[in-house]
Amino acid sequence: MEMGVFIPIANNGWLISETAPQYGASFDLNKKIVQKAEGYGLEFALSMVKLRGFGGKTEFWDHALESFTLMAGLAAVTDKIKLIASTAILTLPPAITARMASTISSIAPGRVGVNIVTGWAPAEYTQQGLWPGDEYFGYRYDYATEYVQVMRDLWDKGSSDFKGEHFTMDDCKLSPAPEGDVKIVAAGQSAKGMAFAANHADYNFILGSGINTPMAVKPSVDKLVEAAKESGRDVGAYVLFMVIADETDEKAQAKWEHIRSGVDADALAWMADQGSKDTAADDSSTAKTINLPEGAVNFNMGTLVGSYESIARQLDDVAALEGVKGIMMTFDDFLEGMDIFGQKIQPLMASRSDKAKAA
Ligand SMILES: Cc1cc2nc3c(=O)[nH]c(=O)nc-3n(C[C@H](O)[C@H](O)[C@H](O)COP(=O)(O)O)c2cc1C
Repeated sequence: MEMGVFIPIANNGWLISETAPQYGASFDLNKKIVQKAEGYGLEFALSMVKLRGFGGKTEFWDHALESFTLMAGLAAVTDKIKLIASTAILTLPPAITARMASTISSIAPGRVGVNIVTGWAPAEYTQQGLWPGDEYFGYRYDYATEYVQVMRDLWDKGSSDFKGEHFTMDDCKLSPAPEGDVKIVAAGQSAKGMAFAANHADYNFILGSGINTPMAVKPSVDKLVEAAKESGRDVGAYVLFMVIADETDEKAQAKWEHIRSGVDADALAWMADQGSKDTAADDSSTAKTINLPEGAVNFNMGTLVGSYESIARQLDDVAALEGVKGIMMTFDDFLEGMDIFGQKIQPLMASRSDKAKAA
């Protein structure tokens, strides 16, 4: 079972709150986090792409680095950890993304992955004249499918003559090829998103929900397993959790309550408004959960709040689910959180006993 960290490429990580730790977006912070993660034996780090913040008193995500260039920097200061960069497919042609991935691969051979972001917040794209109109919500996974086909052509064969509805290649070339496989990662929760992942990705992220209800991920993991059976491909579920840990359940709970007390309502309202724009959303679409401002201090992300023992037990429970290949974490304080995970939680996890010994 792999473990990963969703690094804070934008200010304040995933907590939309005035009483959460306040910090900016910097290479230095992300470097420290990823080096700690590598030291504790974590297998991967993912950085998102975010092109427009939510504002509010915390200026939530108004300050954000760029994913591929950040990962290139991190590639140069790490040795083992896999680095997954995110492409907002409306902003970067697939031949450019493929070349950026092969460039990072020449810095970090065999350690590169690409997260395919179709986009859920139109404001990120309208601000730069790149939103094709709301009908895009209906065809974004077709667009993503062609996008991945072009990249795979270029990586596998060094050229592409792909002719599709959205992309037309004409003896498009790419060299050098990346060293080793470039893993394709996706994160859709809708039926179309799952089908896309099952047919074209190596991993799909599954969003949990609720506080200390880790098994809430099971229905979505099952859907992915089912979709992968249909496509006949090996597609693993990576599950996402926020981890709020302390010595006792009570102390962790107090930390969590404190964070919740400072929720940035204006930033949340902006997020809810953007989340409500997906006219093609189905019941499992992320837009449906993003659009729930109450309790969304952390995007309604599945959250584990508790003592080291209780977090270790819950992570082990998820690791045991069929189809789960990895768990990715976010923290309230990433530097402290990585140390707590590496020194206190991981050694208690049955599913990580080999890594804990090595670390
Ligand atoms: C782990 C994870 C990473 C994601 N990364 C990004 C990202 O970098 N940028 C972004 O705009 N959306 C990101 N998303 C959102 C998804 O890419 C996707 O837009 C969202 O899940 C909506 O798809 P759906 O309607 O199929 O659920 C991420 C979601 C998850 C769970």
